[in-house]
Amino acid sequence: MGIIKDEHRRLKPSHAQSPMTSKLKILLLVVSTNLLSVFLFAGSSGWVAPAVHFVDSGTLLRELNATQRQLSNTLWQVSQLSKLLATANSLLETTLTDIGKAHREEEESPDEDLEKWARRLTGELKLVVGPHKFPLGYNPNIGSDELYPVLGTSCRRYEEELVKYMSYEVGGECPSDEWFAQRLMLKGCEPLPRRRCHPKSPVGYVEPAPLPESLWAIPADTSITWDAYTCKNYSCLLPASVPPEFPESDAIEHGRVGGVQLMSEAEEMIEPEDTARPQHPNGRRCATLMCTISVAHRLPFYDNTLDLVHSTHVLSNWIPDAMLEFALFDIYRVLRPGGVFWLDHFFCLGHQLNATYAPMFDRIGFRKLRWNAGRKLDRGIEKNEWYISTLLEKPMT
Ligand SMILES: *[C@@H]1O[C@H](CO)[C@@H](O)[C@H](O)[C@H]1NC(C)=O
Ligand SMILES: *[C@@H]1O[C@H](CO)[C@@H](O)[C@H](O)[C@H]1NC(C)=O
Ligand SMILES: *[C@@H]1O[C@H](CO)[C@@H](O)[C@H](O)[C@H]1NC(C)=O
Repeated sequence: MGIIKDEHRRLKPSHAQSPMTSKLKILLLVVSTNLLSVFLFAGSSGWVAPAVHFVDSGTLLRELNATQRQLSNTLWQVSQLSKLLATANSLLETTLTDIGKAHREEEESPDEDLEKWARRLTGELKLVVGPHKFPLGYNPNIGSDELYPVLGTSCRRYEEELVKYMSYEVGGECPSDEWFAQRLMLKGCEPLPRRRCHPKSPVGYVEPAPLPESLWAIPADTSITWDAYTCKNYSCLLPASVPPEFPESDAIEHGRVGGVQLMSEAEEMIEPEDTARPQHPNGRRCATLMCTISVAHRLPFYDNTLDLVHSTHVLSNWIPDAMLEFALFDIYRVLRPGGVFWLDHFFCLGHQLNATYAPMFDRIGFRKLRWNAGRKLDRGIEKNEWYISTLLEKPMT
């Protein structure tokens, strides 16, 4: 601005004098040069828009700085969060591992769990779940000093139903609950627990015909307890179930049997042609069905079906009393009315014979056909060891 003023001062004298052309040109040139410089100067100070930007860029930088600070702050928070997350993750992992371990331990020691369950139970259910201590202490053959009755694993899931199933009068007639029992079995509670009661007797049991006629003869309607079925006689059942006719020999070849000899813990296979093969007292020959189960297992047969149950050297005083009684009631259950339990070589000590076992066999409800008690002398008379051999019949009614 100071320069422009100077140029105006110089121009005034040239206007006042009568100017010469060359001087005027020079002056004009100077003026124009100055004007140009004035213009250039004014122009440089007249770039308004970029100037505003340069002035506001400070604010922008500050804002950017602030944003950057916020951003770095946020980044810090995020890193803290991810650290927390990592900690939480590892905690969760530890917890899950612990839970898994606990679960595995639980799975690894089902006995402990079973014991807890067994302790909580009462009455017949407690007895039938066990465990029961061996009367003679640790049994090296079994590798334990106690025995658990065999019970389907799923049974424990249906405790309420089990309690109901095990509610009956000991030594009396079992509830008529075949349908209920079948339903429990279908749910996986198989084998069912044994019971100390008698299955309901058929109203008028008729002895089956001798073999082989009995294979093809339809039993009397009165020989069956029909409670669990819609049908109340064979005429109702047969039309829907009789298969097409085929030769008798085919059926025999395919292993269909009409009678069963149960060898509890069978020690040897009896050959079909073996003449010592047991016969029912009424002279009927018995077919053989091999079935390997422990003495603690409920017999896998229907009520009131078998002609004969033979036990030799198996049932003896090594079995806990309560379990033996359940086993004897189970044998009673599967025998048909008039069926025979042939208990052979039942080993015990003299004082047990009259104090424990004779009364126990009486309690079951068998009729004594034969009863022989004799000393076992091979280890010396002073050992007071005895064998009982007996034929026990299930009453007809
Ligand atoms: C922006 O921040 C830096 C440091 O982070 C500082 O040196 C600079 O002066 C700041 N600029 C403004 C415009 O605030
Ligand atoms: C068999 O039972 C059905 C009902 O289930 C009955 O209608 C029928 O008369 C019975 N037959 C005989 C022969 O008793
Ligand atoms: C058992 O009791 C009967 C009498 O009921 C007796 O004759 C027998 O000697 C007793 N047996 C033993 C081993 O005590």
